[in-house]
Amino acid sequence: MRRARTIAQVRAAVRAWRRAGQRVVFVPTMGNLHAGHMSLIEAARAHGERFIASIFVNPMQFGPNEDFAHYPRTPQRDERMLRSAGCDLMFTPEVSEIYPNGMTHATRVEVPGLSDILCGQFRPGHFQGVTTVVAKLLHICAPDAAVFGEKDFQQLTLIRRMVSDLCMPVRIIPAPTVRADDGLAMSSRNQYLSAAERARAPVLYRTLCAAARRIEAGDRDWVAIEREGLRVLTAEGFRPDYFAIRRQEDLGAPAPESRRLVILTAAHLGRARLIDNVQVTI
Ligand code: PAJ
Repeated sequence: MRRARTIAQVRAAVRAWRRAGQRVVFVPTMGNLHAGHMSLIEAARAHGERFIASIFVNPMQFGPNEDFAHYPRTPQRDERMLRSAGCDLMFTPEVSEIYPNGMTHATRVEVPGLSDILCGQFRPGHFQGVTTVVAKLLHICAPDAAVFGEKDFQQLTLIRRMVSDLCMPVRIIPAPTVRADDGLAMSSRNQYLSAAERARAPVLYRTLCAAARRIEAGDRDWVAIEREGLRVLTAEGFRPDYFAIRRQEDLGAPAPESRRLVILTAAHLGRARLIDNVQVTI
């Protein structure tokens, strides 16, 4: 596995692979890799011959009072994991490489509407930071395909929309959420949980599954199901931001006849803000 710190190094590697007729698959991450990230590399295998992973804690997607400074950084462990997964190139740029003119007046990419709902309502500017950095990384790596986790369902939806709106020549591959044995979705932010909070955290997934079962059993009272989800989470010691039933394709409010649904939630537990979702097709 090679390591690149500059855009020029990435472009040189990709040019050589293309000349050899090899397809390039890209997996963007913020590092502190876990089994969820590794599953994206596995999913990448079916779509090409060469694999790039980026590790970049993107300052633009963190709010002023969020955890940018404290976000867990484990570069040596990440490098070992990527090497043993068969990754060909690990891209670890400095902030100045990605934002050569600073961030304040930098060009930004925004998907209006989709970026302001759900998590966007509670993390203003977050998704603009995500779509901006992902657009840059896709320009830099010019992959045939890029893999994103369904764990961040709103992020995946935004990126698909951005790629379509900007006519970007890349296939977006979704990968299912990897969970611990007790159901908690793997996340770098789970480290912020105390032992007692970690023991309680799987309630988030169980509450989503309970809502999914109600829908599968024929309940179409979305408002009542959402209200019950919020009630259970609050009773269990979470501070939920939202618990919402939406259409899978565009995260719009479902009609009674909608068939492809996703239930999404974000909730604070101690210092951690956890997100999760479950898809339901009826
Ligand atoms: P990060 O949180 O590091 O996640 C990188 C990728 O791993 C995302 O596509 C995310 O959905 C996926 N992922 C995380 N946990 C997962 C799990 N338990 N199961 C499956 N996939 C999982 O998401 C970001 O970084 C950033 O916003 C980024 C896209 C890199 C832009 O900065």
